[in-house]
Amino acid sequence: MSELGSIIEEAAKLAGKIMREAPRDRIRIDAKEGHANFVTEYDQKVQQALFSFLSARIPEAHFLGEEQGQDTFQPEDTRGLTFVIDPIDGTSNFMKGYEPSVTSIGLLEDGVPLLGAVYNPWVDRLFLAEAGKGAFENGVPIHTDPAPLSRSLVTMGTAPYYPGLPDTAFRLAGIYLSRCIDIRRSGSAAWDLCMVASGRTGLYFEPKIQLWDYCAGALIAAEAGGTVTDFSGKPLSFSGPSSIVAASCGIAKEGDYLPDTLL
Ligand code: IPD
Ligand code: CA
Ligand code: CA
Repeated sequence: MSELGSIIEEAAKLAGKIMREAPRDRIRIDAKEGHANFVTEYDQKVQQALFSFLSARIPEAHFLGEEQGQDTFQPEDTRGLTFVIDPIDGTSNFMKGYEPSVTSIGLLEDGVPLLGAVYNPWVDRLFLAEAGKGAFENGVPIHTDPAPLSRSLVTMGTAPYYPGLPDTAFRLAGIYLSRCIDIRRSGSAAWDLCMVASGRTGLYFEPKIQLWDYCAGALIAAEAGGTVTDFSGKPLSFSGPSSIVAASCGIAKEGDYLPDTLL
């Protein structure tokens, strides 16, 4: 593993320790813009701890974190090395003690994904990928599933914060359900991408997620042999929100799975 890889791994584990130590019955929760969109004091604590840890080790890097409040980025925001951080992906799970919730750390170089780490502290699983070097779960190489859609589980994201989009998500779920084993909803987009990467599920889709939700997980799924695009099949922008579909090697080979062609 590269030096950057070990720094990110250490950072992700530090974030997980803070999450695990949170007193779940005494966490301060505030509302954000959008339907049932919350932020806890721990989203902020974890983000702050990651910014301090990473900026001390890589002082030249820029930071984009969910709790900074900005969601679309210009090329100048991501020039050089830029960490894209979702301190807690799956905040409503975290609030309710319903796992999974994870930390997601992506690293862009001139706007292109270079490294990604997703850590689930509840099951102590770290997913890590570096561009061109494959993807790993707790140090072991992972690959997407060669099975076709009919022999795969599908996970969905409901795009809960955006009016109108949950309808699209549920229409698509109905279509995939008739063609796969069954549908799951974890509540963490980064985790869903890692589940495709590790071959446990075959496909994940969501009508709209933010850069910090997909930055690390999309690289991990792609490095594990998956195909990750927007709903029309175009590459993700890595500069702001997007629809997303991640397919295993088996489903991508079979074809005819892109949401825009199924809706
Ligand atoms: C959310 C989760 C969820 C997905 C939403 C995301 P948050 O992130 O990843 O699974 O459906 O689109 O915004 O708010 O828990 O960080
Ligand atoms: Ca998120
Ligand atoms: Ca979050």
